[in-house]
Amino acid sequence: MAKRYKDIVGDGGSDIVGQVVAQNERLRSRMSLIHHKVAVMSGKGGVGKSTITVNLAAILASRGYRVGLLDADINGPNVGKMLGVRKQSLSMGESAVSPALGPLDIKVMSMDLLLPGDNTPVEWDALSQQDTFIWRGTIEAGALREFLADTAWGELDFLLMDLPPGPYAFTTLTQLIPELTGVVVTIPSELSRLVVKKFIVLAQKTRTRLAGLVENMAGYVCPHCGKLGDLFYAASDGEKVALEMGLPFLGRIHFDPRLPVSTDWGVPFVLEHNDSAAGKAIAQVAEKVKKFLGEG
Ligand SMILES: Nc1ncnc2c1ncn2[C@@H]1O[C@H](COP(=O)(O)OP(=O)(O)O)[C@@H](O)[C@H]1O
Ligand SMILES: [Mg+2]
Repeated sequence: MAKRYKDIVGDGGSDIVGQVVAQNERLRSRMSLIHHKVAVMSGKGGVGKSTITVNLAAILASRGYRVGLLDADINGPNVGKMLGVRKQSLSMGESAVSPALGPLDIKVMSMDLLLPGDNTPVEWDALSQQDTFIWRGTIEAGALREFLADTAWGELDFLLMDLPPGPYAFTTLTQLIPELTGVVVTIPSELSRLVVKKFIVLAQKTRTRLAGLVENMAGYVCPHCGKLGDLFYAASDGEKVALEMGLPFLGRIHFDPRLPVSTDWGVPFVLEHNDSAAGKAIAQVAEKVKKFLGEG
């Protein structure tokens, strides 16, 4: 895979240190054109990070903001499918790769756009299995740096980043983007709470600004009687967790069975169902994040 990326961005000779220094320069200058860099993260998988990132991007773009979306999930990229851009091919501009263009001109970069087929996993070239294991983190960090530094993001109001579960992509991004802001996602489950609290402490240790905590899949509205009930055994307590961890609470998003349908179809849910309870809740999260960042 690393090879395919090089096919597009070029190898640049054998001066590795020089290349990294030059890339860091490009990273700094590209990031300076982007007003807000927001990572949607959790530590936990399956809580709705990708879904929320894509829909936040769509809401912000629908309000007239210039939005980019980096799929920082190198090994399980979802954003291309969720924004319907998987068929677009990337092209090399003068000094950077042009991102794919999603709905409302959201600029998208994802490893998915570089993989040759649906069933192709990301594989790294290495001399041996052991080398693959040892170098994997380093190579993945390099891929994130390349995505940030060598994508023609242009001037943006928001660059949203959809993070994979686990701490590694997050700690890498804190090093690449010191002014990173985080939005943390949880669901009403003891398992999620356990992992998410640890993750919040990690983020606080890295001195990352946290815009707040979102509780996703918080309750389900019965389509027959319209009553709101709990989806999980654990009752919704995101607000309490946010308070305990010293974060603003950004709101609850209900479970809505139309959400997975929208993501499978590549059309952000909030663009089709902005008057649904979940759509309104996501819009409210976007408003609170905007306010946190000092945007109206
Ligand atoms: N509020 C919600 N209502 C219904 N389905 C949801 C909701 N949030 C997420 N999902 C679904 O849950 C699954 C996991 O969401 P995803 O965004 O991929 O999580 P993550 O990125 O945290 O792994 C997806 O199938 C998604 O469509
Ligand atoms: Mg995801």
